[in-house]
Amino acid sequence: MTIATNNTDSNTLMLSRYQRLIEISQQLNSTLDLGSLLKKIISAAKELTNTEAASIMLIDPSTGDLRFEIASNIKPQDMEDIIIPKGSGIAGWVALHGEPRVIDDVTKEPTWTRKVDDTIEFQTRSILAVPLRTHNKVIGVLEGINKIGGGGWDESDINTLTTLAGQAAIAIENARLFQQSDFIAEMVHELRTPLAALKASTVLLMRPDLPDNKRSDIITTMHSETERLSRLTSDFLDLARLESGRTRLDILRFDLKKLIEESVDVVLPQASDKHVNIYIECDHFTASADRGKIKQVLLNLLTNAIKYNREKGEIRVQASEAGEGGEQQPLVQVAVADTGYGISKEHQKHMFEKFYRVSDTAGFTQGTGLGLAIAKQIIEAHGGQITLESEQGRGSTFAITLPLATR
Ligand SMILES: Nc1ncnc2c1ncn2[C@@H]1O[C@H](COP(=O)(O)OP(=O)(O)OP(=O)(O)O)[C@@H](O)[C@H]1O
Ligand SMILES: [Mg+2]
Repeated sequence: MTIATNNTDSNTLMLSRYQRLIEISQQLNSTLDLGSLLKKIISAAKELTNTEAASIMLIDPSTGDLRFEIASNIKPQDMEDIIIPKGSGIAGWVALHGEPRVIDDVTKEPTWTRKVDDTIEFQTRSILAVPLRTHNKVIGVLEGINKIGGGGWDESDINTLTTLAGQAAIAIENARLFQQSDFIAEMVHELRTPLAALKASTVLLMRPDLPDNKRSDIITTMHSETERLSRLTSDFLDLARLESGRTRLDILRFDLKKLIEESVDVVLPQASDKHVNIYIECDHFTASADRGKIKQVLLNLLTNAIKYNREKGEIRVQASEAGEGGEQQPLVQVAVADTGYGISKEHQKHMFEKFYRVSDTAGFTQGTGLGLAIAKQIIEAHGGQITLESEQGRGSTFAITLPLATR
């Protein structure tokens, strides 16, 4: 009878722990900020295994040593000084073997060193240490320190902390990837601006006292911001694919002059709005490249040459032979020259970086600052180059090289 009651008790405890674990793992998965993620893991570890303190050590990939990332019983400034060499101590053992360890009394454990306690003025009595493991790789160690009430940890504590560590390790890896990927951070940042404008507009539209003329202004803003958002997202996707090498080029032989004329036709309305004349000087060339992608590059160069030109300016598109590239591949060069404001030497250095826009022109022209970054990726994927020559106040010439078809 007593045994049955105990079983029911432990089953209830297990169930409530698993319920908490599910809740916690959902919280962990939705946290991408590494600092707050680590805090959540620590407090979950303490709560689930009924321990006084908890800590996370992560493996430094360059040395293999363990370093404290967070600990509820260590001040952040003390943490930096503590390094646990690969394989040493209890945490080192767990990281090396990828298995949990329970030490009920640290004073009886030969591999335990008092050094950490001395540094942080804390008394460790017992330790439950489990590996933080993702895809069969141990990335660190999660420790519970001092079981509350003095007893030892049981099988259920070990299983619970191991399960939590599994969830935590994946969340940590996701947060680290997110941190590393400044592209995603920049992307989110860029998306926020049009989103904020849309949000503010909807709030205004909901006001019943809004005059009709204001209402239509707001709808116009919303329309252009939506367009910008959809352009941004497709540009992001293009660039992400190109950068990761997942873009497949559809190489075809095509008449270069025809492509140039076709591209100029697309931008002609924009050019005539600004009274800019476009001249094409191009002999007959057969290029061997992804026609659609090269058109995308030409359209951006032409649009830039219009956007950043002066009223009644000029644009010259010239194609000429450009010698040989790698593997003796004959190349053709297409140069787009404008009579615009030009670009200073300082700005030229950054011209092909993502999101880079020259502040003087950014105010009165629309753009994401991704066009040239995409162009560079496309041209380099073809084995060509994109270059820039510019003189402030006189104009700029952007030139690309492309493979010529060989017989
Ligand atoms: N022909 C040019 N003359 C002067 N400045 C230019 C010229 N082309 C590009 N720039 C500068 O370089 C920046 C980056 O150009 P890029 O084409 O990458 O982005 P964008 O035109 O601002 O936006 P997007 O092309 O994504 O719509 C521009 O914002 C502009 O400041
Ligand atoms: Mg552009």
